[in-house]
Amino acid sequence: MTLSTPHGGTLVNHIDLNYNFSSHSTEIELDAVALSDLELIANGAYSPLGGFLGSEDYESVIQNMRLANGIVWSIPITLPISEVAAQKLRIGEMVKLTFHNETFGVLELQELYTPNKKAEADKVYQTTDPNHPGVKKLFERPNVYAAGPIILTKIPAKHPDFNRHYKTPLEIRKEFEKRNWNTVVGFQTRNPVHRAHEYIQKTALEIVDGLFLNPLVGETKSDDIPAGIRMKSYEVLLKNYYPNDRVYLGVFLASMRYAGPKEAIFHALVRKNYGCTHFIVGRDHAGVGNYYGTYDAQKIFKQFSFEEIGIMILSFEHSFYCTKCKSMASSKTCPHDLKDHLHLSGTKVREMLHNGITPPPEFSRPEVIEILIKGLRNS
Ligand code: ADX
Repeated sequence: MTLSTPHGGTLVNHIDLNYNFSSHSTEIELDAVALSDLELIANGAYSPLGGFLGSEDYESVIQNMRLANGIVWSIPITLPISEVAAQKLRIGEMVKLTFHNETFGVLELQELYTPNKKAEADKVYQTTDPNHPGVKKLFERPNVYAAGPIILTKIPAKHPDFNRHYKTPLEIRKEFEKRNWNTVVGFQTRNPVHRAHEYIQKTALEIVDGLFLNPLVGETKSDDIPAGIRMKSYEVLLKNYYPNDRVYLGVFLASMRYAGPKEAIFHALVRKNYGCTHFIVGRDHAGVGNYYGTYDAQKIFKQFSFEEIGIMILSFEHSFYCTKCKSMASSKTCPHDLKDHLHLSGTKVREMLHNGITPPPEFSRPEVIEILIKGLRNS
């Protein structure tokens, strides 16, 4: 095997740091979600997307999980702007994209359209409940979508504490090649790595050359553990419990959508663009609350052929610590009763920490817990 071919065939590169803006007079102010999307489109993480979706692609993604040309894509990447802002724009013009009044890119404005957000919520999130964090965010963002190809003209500032872990898909691919990895498994997480994560990662590592630990560091809901604290916890975990030459840590800039199955497809396609050949989908991937079935995010891949997705999905059962086996296990490997099982999840670890309870070593490595307690105390 060799590293995966980018989705759609070629890795997009829409970065031009010497771009000349002199003739551009209008601008769109981005929110944090759109800024991260801009960078991820430009650096190829979202290949084959070259810009924010127009209405034809948007409808097709929502209805069929495909771009209008048939290529699989499951999360609409859009640029919401207010009606007032839309009135100032003309189709065909080049518009500056700003964040906190600093320019980071340009959009060739091809279209302005008003989405049916209820339909978008229903299709993408499978619920219109405004308590769902992804739906809440969708409804809070402005109501007109601006569409067209983009160019990133300035790289947004990086978090100073983990600056070295930001890499473009091209750079990540070079790292994998340098290590002579032919097979790489990608791992998405928005949580500190607990023992169940470690178990499924290391099980995967038994059959591939390398693990790409790719935590999402974009916007998350307020009770998720901040990325700065999580990054320290990943570093200490890798240092103490992983073979250094078989793991690579790099951040994923995107915001979390909490869209469960549809986001699992999106997460897999992006990791394919980073070169991964395999991708882990465990229990309730990218889920929140009880909106999705435990294995919905695995089942959804059955709707596509392997060629269409182009990355091998490694599906894992809900894993737990078994007090009789005295090890991590799942229902596939453990014969004991439910009462012998310690079920762990990011939510549970977070709840314990917030209530001042130290999670036991069966939940999480002590070095990780120490960092989380210290980090949350100071945050
Ligand atoms: S996610 O929202 O980024 O998917 P999380 O960090 O909780 O959240 O999960 C990262 C990956 O580990 C996902 O693929 C998820 O399905 C998997 N996972 C989390 N906990 C378990 C568990 N106890 N057993 C099996 N898989 C798990």
